[in-house]
Amino acid sequence: MKSYIVNKNVVRYEFGKPIETYSVIEKGVSESDIEFKYFQLNLGEEIKLKYNMGKKDIVYGLGENIRGINKRGWIYESFCTDDPNHAPDKKSLYGAHNFFIVDGEKRFGVYIDFPSKIIYDVGYEKKDKLEITIEGKDADIYIINGETVKEIAQNFLKIIGKGYVPPKWAFGYLQSRWSYPTEEAVESLANEFIERDIPCDGICLDLDYMDNYKDFSLSNERFPNFEEVTRRLKSKGVKIIPIIDAGVKIEDGYDIYEEGIEKGYFVTDKDGKPFVAAVWPGKVHFPDFLNKDARKWFGKKYKCLIDKGIEGFWNDMNEPAIFYSENGINDAYRNIDELRTKELNIDSFFKFKDVVLGLSNSMNDYKGFYHKTEDGIVNHYEIHNLYGFNMTKAAAEGFEEIDSNKRFLLFSRASFIGAHRYGGIWTGDNCSWWEHLILNMKMLPSINMCGFIYSGADTCGFGSNVDSELAIRWNQLSIFAPLYRNHSSMGTRNQEPFAFDEYTEKTIKNIIKFRYAMIPYLYSEYMKAINSSDMLIKPLSFEYDDEFVSQIEDQLLVGDSIMIAPVYEQNKSGRYVYLPEDMLLWKVKKYTSKDFDVINKGHNYINLDLNEFALFIRKNRMFVYGEPAQNTELLNNETLNVLAFVADRAEYDLYDDDGISKEYLLGEHSNINITITLEEDKHTIVVKNSGNNKVKELLVTIITAEGKIITEKVNV
Ligand code: GLC
Repeated sequence: MKSYIVNKNVVRYEFGKPIETYSVIEKGVSESDIEFKYFQLNLGEEIKLKYNMGKKDIVYGLGENIRGINKRGWIYESFCTDDPNHAPDKKSLYGAHNFFIVDGEKRFGVYIDFPSKIIYDVGYEKKDKLEITIEGKDADIYIINGETVKEIAQNFLKIIGKGYVPPKWAFGYLQSRWSYPTEEAVESLANEFIERDIPCDGICLDLDYMDNYKDFSLSNERFPNFEEVTRRLKSKGVKIIPIIDAGVKIEDGYDIYEEGIEKGYFVTDKDGKPFVAAVWPGKVHFPDFLNKDARKWFGKKYKCLIDKGIEGFWNDMNEPAIFYSENGINDAYRNIDELRTKELNIDSFFKFKDVVLGLSNSMNDYKGFYHKTEDGIVNHYEIHNLYGFNMTKAAAEGFEEIDSNKRFLLFSRASFIGAHRYGGIWTGDNCSWWEHLILNMKMLPSINMCGFIYSGADTCGFGSNVDSELAIRWNQLSIFAPLYRNHSSMGTRNQEPFAFDEYTEKTIKNIIKFRYAMIPYLYSEYMKAINSSDMLIKPLSFEYDDEFVSQIEDQLLVGDSIMIAPVYEQNKSGRYVYLPEDMLLWKVKKYTSKDFDVINKGHNYINLDLNEFALFIRKNRMFVYGEPAQNTELLNNETLNVLAFVADRAEYDLYDDDGISKEYLLGEHSNINITITLEEDKHTIVVKNSGNNKVKELLVTIITAEGKIITEKVNV
């Protein structure tokens, strides 16, 4: 093992000869002799790390995963997995995010930069033992220090590089379903949003827009006027966001397939022949995203859709998901034939079942194909977790080449840390279950810790049928996630805001309008998080320190000014909330409602009817919001509202930029700095404006610690 000082807070320990994953951008160059602390090490064919957790130690992190914000008490596997059944007994989902923080008797962060399977037993086998098994002997392990958990997370986010910034329209509401199968269906859906006065910035197209599920093809039958419709809807403010899958259909005459074969851009089996798997299009080959030429080739293919007016994509099935492989199914047939020669009994029945169920995403398949990387031929299993990352990278690098100053929307299903610099993620195929609403809430801060700030779940749930109450409550959470997309599976009940009854439609419309009203705040906080390598959505314990906050997993901080406490149980018209300090409660029915109340520190029960949600403004903080509009382009925001909860002094910096170009990287942005001071009966508001923005006036409402309301109009 060698050690390298990355900076004063981070040390990298290099075990063996790690594969370069490109997840970290600052790795430290000169060797040092810093001892490997905290863990008992066991080195062999695998690397094992053991740590004795204190009774009250909390383990934060591991990104997109099941269970709580505190990961203690379960066993997790870092291995990108396509599993639509996110039940509590699962061990992995679509992302592999190997960063965690231990907070307790000792406080430190760990990032394991290793692209294959890692098992984290966080007090599952033995209650107080954290045991990590890295399936290999070559890995980089970073130990990250800091005074607080928040600082440790920031110190980690600094070494992995700044996160992806989507265009501002990507903060609008996105409607999706598998599927809106024809251009008529898509167009009438977009028009319906407009007619019903429900804001919407985009419609995601699932597989049916393609010709036979072939990437970068169009169905002549269902989308004969794809470009015309795309451009017409864009002129109304609704962008079309097509899906791109990892697997390329095997079909003679299909250009992508033929080019890939000719150039050797597909992953191969042990004999060097393109590996055959089956996914939605039927038999496919997988592009070798680990090969830079193949990546470049695939990335450029997005141009054919961009040329037709497309500005955003979602990349799917890139774990990669394998329904079955050609080898796998042939083996399965052989096994079944053999079973047939035997007497049918319970034993052979279960063997038969196992043979069939074992076909999808099998480890044999993941071990059965190879990549051509810069370092030579590598077995897929060794780098499994990098596949989705490199598909994201292929697309992002393609966009860069197509239009280097334009921001494109991009989100992926599979991911690895590093991909956060190229795109966002959604959390895959959840279900319309109350359990998945709370899971969504708990996942958000963990994902943020791992750098994926542009993220969100399928609002209302992908599988199963949603009921109207769950749909409303889920929207009340999702408006605080940067990626706000409603997506559902084939065969499930429709869940567009108007798919229920009048009450539900009106309620969800108000929630979506609130989202649009708060885009100035959300965007500002998003950009500040990106620019200062911080999280946007945090657990309370990252900002407050008392005996209760460390256990709170159902309230979250969103940006610097607000705390949310969504209702996540059925038939509830309220919930308990713990406040670590006095806060201002805004009970929101509509963005125009003015139901404010100062709530004291401590445990409180808050009544929240189905059409209400709670937004808490922290002490000495401000929340800025404007007027909603049909889409983000139409947001006017010349007048902004400032809602401030002030005990003595509050300061807020409102960031904005053009929302479309990459000029923010060159410092092109504006800031409105607002300071409010209260001294006895006098209040002072100071506003400083720098850079270009449209804001002309601020309608300031100050609520004092005693609940006194002061309003003032301030010119900018
Ligand atoms: C996968 C995706 C889902 C998509 C479906 C069909 O299950 O996770 O979002 O709708 O494939 O493309």
